Amino acid sequence: MARIAPSLLAADFTHLADEVLKINASTDILHLDVMDGHFVPNISFGPAIIKQLRPLSSLYFDVHLMISEPERYAKVFADAGAQGITVHVETFSSLAHGLQVIQSLHDLHVDVGITLKPNTPVTALYPYLSSVQRAFVMTVEPGFGGQSFMTNQVSKISDLAAYRHQHQLAFDIEVDSGVTMETAPLCIAAGADTLVAGTSVFKSSNYHQAIQEMRGSR
Ligand code: DX5
Ligand code: ZN
Repeated sequence: MARIAPSLLAADFTHLADEVLKINASTDILHLDVMDGHFVPNISFGPAIIKQLRPLSSLYFDVHLMISEPERYAKVFADAGAQGITVHVETFSSLAHGLQVIQSLHDLHVDVGITLKPNTPVTALYPYLSSVQRAFVMTVEPGFGGQSFMTNQVSKISDLAAYRHQHQLAFDIEVDSGVTMETAPLCIAAGADTLVAGTSVFKSSNYHQAIQEMRGSR
């Protein structure tokens, strides 16, 4: 059964603490989208919010950095309580730089994730997959919640699953964005372990039920 990572981006920002408390018992992971207005055309929230939410929850904090030069800011997010930090392959200037960024994240004792925008080929992730704990497939153009799922990205999920099997690796495969009751089964069938869902959880009338239904059980 897949794991659902609710994305706080779709939560009610005037009641953030309550929103986190409402999902605490329904899953074990929270997705936190950090946007800088440069790497993506939107600005969300930063480490101060994450730090204040940290004591309220034992959920695994999975921080998705949609920012340029993620290595400059990774430590403040680790110090704020991130257990996982995911960076975009498009921020790497070379293979050596990418490996250096990943090592700098490992040095902070966080799990490392790698992801890509829809127009980036999945092969761009391959050189890093033996060094990371998770690989995300973005199924919308990053920057905003509530967008429609891009079905043409699903083959990247199965490509990652095949690569993982072929190379006997153990990274977690995540799908980020546009996950609904209709699209979740496509992702799970293609080999996804974790589904990031903002709108379908936080804009639903029953967060627990939405999470359970998307996981594949009631
Ligand atoms: C998009 C973010 C996603 C987003 C998902 O840039 O990375 O994590 O919050 O939101 P929904 O589920 O609404 O597409
Ligand atoms: Zn995200």
